[in-house]
Amino acid sequence: MIKREIGHSGLFVNPVGLGCMGLSEFYGPAVTVEAGVSLLHSAIDEGVNHFDTAELYGMGANERLLGEAFHDRRDKVIIATKFGPTRDPKTGAMTGVDGSEKNMRRAVEQSLKHLRTDYIDLYYLHRVDLDTPIEETVGAMAKLVDEGKVRALGLSEASGATLVKANAVHPIAALQSEYSIFSRDIEDTQLGGVREIGASLVAYSPLGRGMLTGAFTRDHKPADGDFRRGQFQPRFAEGAYEANLDLVEEVKAVADALGATPSQVALAWVLGRGEDILTIPGTTKLANLETNLGALELRLTDNQTERLNALADKVSGARYPSARSANINA
Ligand code: ATR
Repeated sequence: MIKREIGHSGLFVNPVGLGCMGLSEFYGPAVTVEAGVSLLHSAIDEGVNHFDTAELYGMGANERLLGEAFHDRRDKVIIATKFGPTRDPKTGAMTGVDGSEKNMRRAVEQSLKHLRTDYIDLYYLHRVDLDTPIEETVGAMAKLVDEGKVRALGLSEASGATLVKANAVHPIAALQSEYSIFSRDIEDTQLGGVREIGASLVAYSPLGRGMLTGAFTRDHKPADGDFRRGQFQPRFAEGAYEANLDLVEEVKAVADALGATPSQVALAWVLGRGEDILTIPGTTKLANLETNLGALELRLTDNQTERLNALADKVSGARYPSARSANINA
């Protein structure tokens, strides 16, 4: 496996990392600490070194899980975490985005404590705060680099123009955005900016939140309580769900021709879009993590890539409901 550098940060990672969100929230119940730590340790053994979390995930529980798993093997992992979105501490409801220095200071100290470390490798603004100039937020984040608390900076779901503005204040090593066979809008809105500043694109939900793995069917839907069942995921809403499942058949056909799994094809497609792209598929299961790492060995033919390229335009449903879209490509 050839590691890829995150921007020009000097941080090198396995192009298949681990998105940790689902271990604590959103995709069904949280795993136990024991199961989570076991998965995270096994991931290191499998060669994964890029672990992505956020203050938001499980309202601190996800960072605490990583702290429990990694505090005694800190040198083996690149930890990325994020701040910005705020939640009601009692209900967990999302209340906005706060990119102020005051909120950043509070969040970073809490993240360091939860992660049981004295530095964060990659610190992201999780969503752009529309009321705080990006230069102000990134200026504050740059102080954390000077103070040795953070090694590199990132933005998530920022537009290309915002990235360029931010990069003028301090080098931005990574833009994290949703990118997959089903979600290619960032090619027009964000990827140009990523390439202009020499950052990496960290692709989240590269498996289409599980849809592209073939694990879901008309009969086997996300369980009750999974946020993909609610109004938060238009692509899983009734009607769109079935139409999108039909598109997954094409991914399965390509996988069958290669003797691979759909998840491997989905990841190989993303990784094949450029050397500056990293993936962080999420999983709670070691077997799935091992399968996903198999994508590193997979090469799609030009014809297969073109077949997959055609799918995004046919996808039903937006990435997020309109109420959540204001901070996307912001
Ligand atoms: P996100 O970045 O939001 O976590 P994703 O990486 O596109 O989204 O997809 C994550 C989903 O894919 C999870 O529901 C995960 O379920 P498990 O915890 O059961 O694994 C699912 N997933 C990941 N790898 C998979 C695989 N190889 N086969 C089947 N499902 C997989």
